[in-house]
Amino acid sequence: MNTSFLPRIAVLATGGTIAGQAGDASKTAGYKAGVVGVDKLLAAVPALSSVASIHAEQIASIDSKDMSAALWTTLARRIDELLAQDDIVGVVVTHGTDTLEETAYLLHLTVKSAKPVVLTAAMRPSTALSADGPLNLLNAVTVAASASAKGQGVLVAFNNQIHCARDVTKTSTYAVDAFRSPETGVLGFVQDGRVEFQRTVVRPHTSASEFAVADRWPMVEVVTSHADASGVMVDALVAAGVKGIVIAGTGNGSMHATLTHALGDAVKQGVAVVRASRVGSGHVMRNGAANDDALGTISAGTLNPYKARVLLMLALAASAQDLQRVFDTY
Ligand code: SIN
Repeated sequence: MNTSFLPRIAVLATGGTIAGQAGDASKTAGYKAGVVGVDKLLAAVPALSSVASIHAEQIASIDSKDMSAALWTTLARRIDELLAQDDIVGVVVTHGTDTLEETAYLLHLTVKSAKPVVLTAAMRPSTALSADGPLNLLNAVTVAASASAKGQGVLVAFNNQIHCARDVTKTSTYAVDAFRSPETGVLGFVQDGRVEFQRTVVRPHTSASEFAVADRWPMVEVVTSHADASGVMVDALVAAGVKGIVIAGTGNGSMHATLTHALGDAVKQGVAVVRASRVGSGHVMRNGAANDDALGTISAGTLNPYKARVLLMLALAASAQDLQRVFDTY
Protein backbone atom coordinates (compact mmCIF):
# COMPACT_ATOMS: atom_id res chain seq x y z
CA MET A 1 0.00 0.00 0.00
CA ASN A 2 1.23 3.54 -0.74
CA THR A 3 1.40 5.17 2.71
CA SER A 4 3.13 8.39 1.64
CA PHE A 5 -0.12 10.38 1.91
CA LEU A 6 -0.76 9.21 5.48
CA PRO A 7 0.36 11.19 8.58
CA ARG A 8 3.64 9.85 9.99
CA ILE A 9 3.39 8.81 13.64
CA ALA A 10 6.25 7.59 15.82
CA VAL A 11 5.28 4.74 18.15
CA LEU A 12 7.66 4.40 21.10
CA ALA A 13 7.23 1.20 23.08
CA THR A 14 8.25 0.93 26.73
CA GLY A 15 6.64 -2.39 27.78
CA GLY A 16 3.65 -2.92 30.07
CA THR A 17 0.71 -5.28 29.91
CA ILE A 18 -0.04 -4.09 26.38
CA ALA A 19 3.18 -5.98 25.56
CA GLY A 20 2.42 -8.75 28.06
CA GLN A 21 2.36 -12.47 27.35
CA ALA A 22 0.61 -15.29 29.18
CA GLY A 23 0.86 -19.03 28.57
CA ASP A 24 -2.93 -19.33 28.59
CA ALA A 25 -5.30 -16.99 26.68
CA SER A 26 -7.86 -17.16 29.48
CA LYS A 27 -5.40 -15.62 31.96
CA THR A 28 -5.59 -11.87 32.63
CA ALA A 29 -3.33 -11.96 35.70
CA GLY A 30 -0.08 -13.77 36.45
CA TYR A 31 1.42 -12.96 33.00
CA LYS A 32 4.76 -11.30 32.23
CA ALA A 33 4.52 -7.63 31.23
CA GLY A 34 6.76 -5.95 28.67
CA VAL A 35 7.96 -8.92 26.62
CA VAL A 36 6.28 -8.51 23.20
CA GLY A 37 8.21 -6.23 20.83
CA VAL A 38 6.75 -3.14 19.16
CA ASP A 39 6.75 -4.73 15.67
CA LYS A 40 4.51 -7.53 16.91
CA LEU A 41 2.19 -5.08 18.68
CA LEU A 42 1.80 -3.11 15.45
CA ALA A 43 1.33 -6.25 13.35
CA ALA A 44 -1.64 -7.18 15.57
CA VAL A 45 -3.47 -4.04 14.35
CA PRO A 46 -3.75 -4.23 10.53
CA ALA A 47 -6.17 -1.27 10.54
CA LEU A 48 -3.25 1.02 11.44
CA SER A 49 -2.11 0.90 7.83
CA SER A 50 -5.04 3.08 6.77
CA VAL A 51 -4.59 5.60 9.63
CA ALA A 52 -0.87 6.40 9.67
CA SER A 53 2.54 5.54 8.36
CA ILE A 54 4.38 4.30 11.44
CA HIS A 55 7.95 4.79 12.59
CA ALA A 56 8.47 2.36 15.52
CA GLU A 57 11.10 2.28 18.26
CA GLN A 58 11.56 0.03 21.28
CA ILE A 59 12.68 2.42 24.03
CA ALA A 60 12.40 -0.12 26.87
CA SER A 61 10.75 -3.45 27.72
CA ILE A 62 9.72 -3.04 31.33
CA ASP A 63 6.86 -3.53 33.72
CA SER A 64 6.03 0.10 34.44
CA LYS A 65 6.27 -0.46 38.21
CA ASP A 66 10.01 -0.31 37.44
CA MET A 67 9.89 3.03 35.61
CA SER A 68 12.84 5.26 36.50
CA ALA A 69 13.57 8.97 36.29
CA ALA A 70 16.54 8.15 34.04
CA LEU A 71 14.19 6.45 31.58
CA TRP A 72 11.87 9.48 31.73
CA THR A 73 14.81 11.63 30.64
CA THR A 74 15.62 9.29 27.73
CA LEU A 75 11.97 9.13 26.65
CA ALA A 76 11.30 12.88 26.83
CA ARG A 77 14.47 13.72 24.90
CA ARG A 78 13.70 11.15 22.18
CA ILE A 79 10.16 12.52 21.84
CA ASP A 80 11.51 16.05 21.42
CA GLU A 81 13.98 14.84 18.76
CA LEU A 82 11.25 13.06 16.82
CA LEU A 83 8.76 15.91 17.04
CA ALA A 84 11.42 18.31 15.75
CA GLN A 85 11.37 16.34 12.47
CA ASP A 86 9.05 17.90 9.88
CA ASP A 87 7.71 14.54 8.71
CA ILE A 88 6.55 13.36 12.20
CA VAL A 89 3.10 14.74 13.12
CA GLY A 90 2.74 13.03 16.50
CA VAL A 91 4.07 10.44 18.94
CA VAL A 92 2.36 7.49 20.64
CA VAL A 93 3.95 5.90 23.72
CA THR A 94 2.89 2.40 24.73
CA HIS A 95 3.30 2.00 28.49
CA GLY A 96 2.24 -0.09 31.47
CA THR A 97 -0.87 1.15 33.26
CA ASP A 98 0.70 1.16 36.73
CA THR A 99 2.78 4.33 36.42
CA LEU A 100 1.33 5.64 33.17
CA GLU A 101 -0.15 8.69 34.90
CA GLU A 102 3.27 9.68 36.29
CA THR A 103 5.06 9.37 32.94
CA ALA A 104 2.22 11.17 31.17
CA TYR A 105 2.36 14.13 33.59
CA LEU A 106 6.17 14.25 33.42
CA LEU A 107 6.01 14.44 29.61
CA HIS A 108 3.16 16.99 29.78
CA LEU A 109 5.51 19.32 31.66
CA THR A 110 8.72 18.67 29.73
CA VAL A 111 8.07 17.91 26.04
CA LYS A 112 8.66 21.10 24.02
CA SER A 113 6.26 20.74 21.11
CA ALA A 114 2.61 21.43 20.32
CA LYS A 115 2.41 18.22 18.27
CA PRO A 116 0.30 15.48 19.90
CA VAL A 117 1.89 13.02 22.32
CA VAL A 118 -0.51 10.23 23.26
CA LEU A 119 0.10 7.48 25.80
CA THR A 120 -1.80 4.24 25.73
CA ALA A 121 -1.74 0.90 27.53
CA ALA A 122 -3.82 -2.18 28.21
CA MET A 123 -5.29 -3.99 31.17
CA ARG A 124 -5.13 -7.40 29.48
CA PRO A 125 -1.96 -8.97 28.05
CA SER A 126 -1.58 -9.19 24.28
CA THR A 127 -2.25 -12.93 24.38
CA ALA A 128 -5.58 -12.64 26.27
CA LEU A 129 -9.04 -13.35 24.93
CA SER A 130 -10.53 -9.89 24.27
CA ALA A 131 -7.19 -8.16 24.70
CA ASP A 132 -7.80 -4.40 24.93
CA GLY A 133 -4.35 -3.33 23.69
CA PRO A 134 -4.92 -3.46 19.91
CA LEU A 135 -7.96 -1.14 19.91
CA ASN A 136 -6.30 1.19 22.43
CA LEU A 137 -3.23 1.37 20.17
CA LEU A 138 -5.33 2.06 17.08
CA ASN A 139 -7.22 4.79 18.94
CA ALA A 140 -4.01 6.35 20.29
CA VAL A 141 -2.53 6.56 16.78
CA THR A 142 -5.82 8.00 15.52
CA VAL A 143 -5.68 10.73 18.20
CA ALA A 144 -1.98 11.45 17.54
CA ALA A 145 -2.75 11.87 13.82
CA SER A 146 -5.66 14.22 14.49
CA ALA A 147 -5.19 17.97 13.97
CA SER A 148 -7.60 18.59 16.85
CA ALA A 149 -5.13 17.01 19.32
CA LYS A 150 -2.47 19.63 18.55
CA GLY A 151 -1.74 21.99 21.45
CA GLN A 152 -3.72 19.94 24.00
CA GLY A 153 -0.61 18.75 25.83
CA VAL A 154 0.12 15.12 26.54
CA LEU A 155 -2.94 12.91 26.25
CA VAL A 156 -3.93 9.43 27.36
CA ALA A 157 -6.12 7.43 24.96
CA PHE A 158 -7.68 4.51 26.77
CA ASN A 159 -10.95 2.62 26.41
CA ASN A 160 -12.27 5.08 23.77
CA GLN A 161 -11.67 8.05 26.07
CA ILE A 162 -9.12 10.86 25.81
CA HIS A 163 -7.75 12.15 29.12
CA CYS A 164 -5.46 15.03 30.03
CA ALA A 165 -2.13 13.77 31.40
CA ARG A 166 -2.51 16.03 34.45
CA ASP A 167 -5.90 14.72 35.50
CA VAL A 168 -5.92 11.04 34.62
CA THR A 169 -5.39 8.31 37.21
CA LYS A 170 -5.69 4.54 37.35
CA THR A 171 -8.70 3.57 39.44
CA SER A 172 -9.08 -0.20 39.01
CA THR A 173 -6.70 -3.12 39.40
CA TYR A 174 -8.48 -5.23 36.76
CA ALA A 175 -11.25 -3.44 34.81
CA VAL A 176 -10.68 -2.43 31.17
CA ASP A 177 -12.12 1.02 31.98
CA ALA A 178 -9.35 1.47 34.54
CA PHE A 179 -8.67 5.18 33.99
CA ARG A 180 -10.62 8.20 35.22
CA SER A 181 -10.05 11.95 35.49
CA PRO A 182 -11.86 12.37 38.81
CA GLU A 183 -12.32 16.14 39.27
CA THR A 184 -12.42 17.16 35.62
CA GLY A 185 -13.75 14.31 33.49
CA VAL A 186 -12.48 13.23 30.09
CA LEU A 187 -11.15 15.66 27.49
CA GLY A 188 -12.92 13.82 24.72
CA PHE A 189 -13.56 10.59 22.90
CA VAL A 190 -12.11 8.48 20.09
CA GLN A 191 -14.24 5.89 18.38
CA ASP A 192 -14.24 4.30 14.92
CA GLY A 193 -11.73 6.84 13.59
CA ARG A 194 -13.57 9.87 14.95
CA VAL A 195 -11.78 12.13 17.47
CA GLU A 196 -13.92 14.55 19.44
CA PHE A 197 -12.71 16.96 22.13
CA GLN A 198 -15.23 18.30 24.66
CA ARG A 199 -12.94 20.77 26.44
CA THR A 200 -9.41 22.17 26.34
CA VAL A 201 -6.57 22.20 28.85
CA VAL A 202 -6.10 25.53 30.66
CA ARG A 203 -2.99 25.04 32.81
CA PRO A 204 0.41 25.56 31.13
CA HIS A 205 2.10 22.52 29.61
CA THR A 206 4.69 21.40 27.03
CA SER A 207 6.26 24.50 25.38
CA ALA A 208 4.63 26.82 27.95
CA SER A 209 6.09 24.89 30.89
CA GLU A 210 9.21 26.22 32.62
CA PHE A 211 10.48 22.68 33.30
CA ALA A 212 12.79 20.23 31.54
CA VAL A 213 14.01 16.71 32.21
CA ALA A 214 17.28 16.44 34.12
CA ASP A 215 20.45 14.36 34.00
CA ARG A 216 20.44 14.18 37.79
CA TRP A 217 17.17 14.09 39.71
CA PRO A 218 16.66 15.20 43.32
CA MET A 219 15.53 12.52 45.77
CA VAL A 220 11.79 12.98 46.38
CA GLU A 221 9.71 10.40 48.24
CA VAL A 222 6.04 9.85 49.12
CA VAL A 223 5.06 9.14 52.74
CA THR A 224 1.52 8.20 53.77
CA SER A 225 -0.30 9.47 56.84
CA HIS A 226 -2.58 6.95 58.55
CA ALA A 227 -3.88 5.97 61.96
CA ASP A 228 -1.00 5.45 64.36
CA ALA A 229 1.53 6.99 61.92
CA SER A 230 5.04 7.70 63.21
CA GLY A 231 7.85 10.01 62.12
CA VAL A 232 10.30 7.13 61.60
CA MET A 233 10.20 7.20 57.81
CA VAL A 234 10.53 10.96 57.62
CA ASP A 235 13.52 10.94 59.98
CA ALA A 236 15.16 8.15 57.93
CA LEU A 237 14.58 10.02 54.67
CA VAL A 238 16.07 13.22 56.05
CA ALA A 239 19.11 11.25 57.24
CA ALA A 240 19.38 9.77 53.72
CA GLY A 241 19.50 13.25 52.16
CA VAL A 242 15.97 13.55 50.78
CA LYS A 243 15.25 16.88 49.07
CA GLY A 244 11.47 16.66 48.94
CA ILE A 245 8.68 14.71 50.62
CA VAL A 246 5.12 14.44 49.38
CA ILE A 247 2.60 13.48 52.02
CA ALA A 248 -0.29 11.27 50.94
CA GLY A 249 -2.37 12.77 53.72
CA THR A 250 -5.78 12.01 55.08
CA GLY A 251 -8.70 14.18 53.87
CA ASN A 252 -7.48 17.69 52.98
CA GLY A 253 -3.86 16.52 53.14
CA SER A 254 -3.99 16.41 56.91
CA MET A 255 -1.31 14.50 58.82
CA HIS A 256 -1.01 12.59 62.06
CA ALA A 257 0.39 14.83 64.82
CA THR A 258 3.51 12.68 65.22
CA LEU A 259 4.19 12.82 61.50
CA THR A 260 3.54 16.58 61.50
CA HIS A 261 6.19 17.03 64.15
CA ALA A 262 8.79 15.08 62.12
CA LEU A 263 7.88 16.99 58.96
CA GLY A 264 8.24 20.33 60.75
CA ASP A 265 11.81 19.31 61.63
CA ALA A 266 12.39 18.22 58.01
CA VAL A 267 11.27 21.63 56.68
CA LYS A 268 13.64 23.34 59.13
CA GLN A 269 16.46 21.27 57.58
CA GLY A 270 15.60 22.50 54.08
CA VAL A 271 13.39 19.64 52.86
CA ALA A 272 10.44 20.74 50.67
CA VAL A 273 7.23 19.16 52.00
CA VAL A 274 4.08 19.02 49.86
CA ARG A 275 0.71 17.97 51.22
CA ALA A 276 -1.44 15.87 48.85
CA SER A 277 -4.31 13.55 49.70
CA ARG A 278 -4.65 9.78 49.68
CA VAL A 279 -8.43 10.11 49.09
CA GLY A 280 -8.32 9.79 45.29
CA SER A 281 -10.35 12.83 44.31
CA GLY A 282 -10.96 16.38 45.48
CA HIS A 283 -8.31 19.01 46.12
CA VAL A 284 -5.98 19.94 48.96
CA MET A 285 -6.41 23.57 50.01
CA ARG A 286 -3.80 25.59 51.87
CA ASN A 287 -4.65 25.16 55.52
CA GLY A 288 -2.88 28.17 57.01
CA ALA A 289 -2.17 27.90 60.70
CA ALA A 290 -2.63 24.12 60.84
CA ASN A 291 0.32 23.31 58.55
CA ASP A 292 1.25 25.49 55.61
CA ASP A 293 1.81 28.83 57.34
CA ALA A 294 2.95 27.29 60.61
CA LEU A 295 5.38 24.72 59.17
CA GLY A 296 6.17 26.01 55.67
CA THR A 297 4.48 23.18 53.80
CA ILE A 298 2.95 23.43 50.31
CA SER A 299 -0.54 22.28 49.25
CA ALA A 300 -0.80 20.11 46.14
CA GLY A 301 -4.24 21.26 44.91
CA THR A 302 -5.81 18.58 42.71
CA LEU A 303 -2.60 16.64 42.06
CA ASN A 304 -2.53 13.19 43.57
CA PRO A 305 0.59 12.33 45.62
CA TYR A 306 2.39 10.60 42.73
CA LYS A 307 1.84 13.46 40.31
CA ALA A 308 2.75 15.93 43.06
CA ARG A 309 6.03 14.00 43.36
CA VAL A 310 6.67 14.46 39.61
CA LEU A 311 6.07 18.22 39.84
CA LEU A 312 8.18 18.56 42.99
CA MET A 313 11.08 16.68 41.34
CA LEU A 314 10.92 18.97 38.31
CA ALA A 315 10.65 22.11 40.45
CA LEU A 316 13.57 21.12 42.68
CA ALA A 317 15.69 20.10 39.65
CA ALA A 318 15.02 23.59 38.23
CA SER A 319 15.73 25.27 41.61
CA ALA A 320 12.30 26.90 41.27
CA GLN A 321 11.49 29.57 43.83
CA ASP A 322 8.08 29.79 45.50
CA LEU A 323 6.91 26.18 45.31
CA GLN A 324 3.33 27.16 46.17
CA ARG A 325 3.24 29.23 42.96
CA VAL A 326 4.47 26.16 41.06
CA PHE A 327 1.72 23.97 42.50
CA ASP A 328 -0.92 26.65 41.95
CA THR A 329 0.20 27.08 38.32
CA TYR A 330 0.77 23.55 37.02
C1 SIN B 1 2.70 -2.37 33.97
O1 SIN B 1 2.30 -1.31 34.45
O2 SIN B 1 3.70 -2.43 33.25
C2 SIN B 1 1.98 -3.64 34.25
C3 SIN B 1 0.54 -3.48 34.45
C4 SIN B 1 -0.19 -2.97 33.25
O3 SIN B 1 0.34 -2.51 32.25
O4 SIN B 1 -1.47 -3.00 33.34
